[in-house]
Amino acid sequence: MLIAGNWKMFKTQAETREFCAAFSPPDGVDVVVCPPFTSLAAAVESGLRVFAQNVHWAEDGAYTGEISAAMLQELGVAGSLVGHSERRQYFGESDESVARRAAAALEAGLDVIACVGETLEERERGATELVLRLQTDAVADAVGAHPRLVVAYEPVWAIGTGETATPEIAQDAHAFVKSILDVPVLYGGSVKPDNAAELLSQPAVDGALVGGASLDPDSFAAICRAALAARA
Ligand code: PGA
Repeated sequence: MLIAGNWKMFKTQAETREFCAAFSPPDGVDVVVCPPFTSLAAAVESGLRVFAQNVHWAEDGAYTGEISAAMLQELGVAGSLVGHSERRQYFGESDESVARRAAAALEAGLDVIACVGETLEERERGATELVLRLQTDAVADAVGAHPRLVVAYEPVWAIGTGETATPEIAQDAHAFVKSILDVPVLYGGSVKPDNAAELLSQPAVDGALVGGASLDPDSFAAICRAALAARA
């Protein structure tokens, strides 16, 4: 069971140290935090397992604003998210660029969490499976069921909205993604201490990608405990 915290553009280095000092997850759960680039080193120093929020496909080059796998590894970073819906929505990430990032990161030895998920408009017009298929196929074609690859199913309508997919919606979407690419699938979208156990007890839900609730050390630890209980 993997519980990953996506901090997005939150937490300075000082705030990262404060979080790490207060955070005490239970044993028996794989916990990862994904701080912004500038706070990666501070999180690594604390002994937590740390992923970046994005990684470029080239080893180096004229790519203003981007970071390579080797740059992350030099800091002790173990993996990276790719294709988060905020990257797709606001920064023009395509299925192709997401797949290239995933392939390069895995090739360099990083773990990868590749995010997929439909928007509300796509769900309402019945296009959920089509979207999930296109997004998942792009990654599957590039890297297959790589042993260091995990997918995160994050319905865009449930991210930061307080709306959560029902356990049935999550289960169905996860089973569908796994039918295309047989890797662990995390659920993401308004996961909180009080809904984590129900979501994580679904058989095709292998963990969670947590945004807002991962910023508070007590809430995030409570979600990690719920994950343990869900699998007990
Ligand atoms: P949320 O974010 O938990 O705040 O909905 C999840 C994510 O974007 O990964």
